[in-house]
Amino acid sequence: MNREPLVVAIDGPAGVGKSTVARRLARRLGVPYLDTGAMYRALALHLLEHGIDPEDRAAVTAALPEIRIELRVADDGRAEVLLAGEPVESRIRSAEVAAATSRAAVHPEVRQRMVTLQRALACRHGGVLEGRDIGTRVLPAARWKFFFDAPPDVRAERRLRDLRDSGAESTMEVVARELAERDARDRERESSPLVAAADAVLVETGSAGVDELVDRLAASILGRPAAGA
Ligand code: DC
Repeated sequence: MNREPLVVAIDGPAGVGKSTVARRLARRLGVPYLDTGAMYRALALHLLEHGIDPEDRAAVTAALPEIRIELRVADDGRAEVLLAGEPVESRIRSAEVAAATSRAAVHPEVRQRMVTLQRALACRHGGVLEGRDIGTRVLPAARWKFFFDAPPDVRAERRLRDLRDSGAESTMEVVARELAERDARDRERESSPLVAAADAVLVETGSAGVDELVDRLAASILGRPAAGA
């Protein structure tokens, strides 16, 4: 029998806990986990390292042919993002890269490149793909679509914790402002703005723990009630 690979789309703004839930859900379902934001971040890292202004569409488009971004499914199931053949994870989490990323991500040429890679991975291996436009643009036919959201203060707190965990220093005020700016750019851009797909299940993550969310999503996908439900 020819079974379609299992594909799950998770979208939502920064700081709603998408990555943690998506990673664990993917492990539970036995499919790769792809953090699509990491791909845009890798591209922004290349631009920063080569002195290319992420807002300059012509310059970014001209650089695209020499920016080599690939996905490699690692042993733990994670789809690792490679830039010029090297893993980038440890170099893409700074506030500087985040700001450049949301500026570069507005260009349709950039998005097209990423969407092609994301679709190829999902088609070949299935996966839990997490980002901003997975349910609307990348995989509009996906059977499972979730849109995560949480109040701004909860999201800023989570972001600050993540930054501190990765060794960076910041304050609540700075993180909240950067988050609001990034949100506005993501929601207002013309090409694939951040918006819930009409058929996405809305998930409020402000008051739910990771375990509970993973259980709920896995139960709805696998068609079994969560324990205690
Ligand atoms: O999820 P993140 O914070 O790593 O995303 C970084 C930036 O990349 C964010 O500003 C939005 C953008 N992005 C996007 O435009 N489309 C995606 N599918 C994923 C991320």
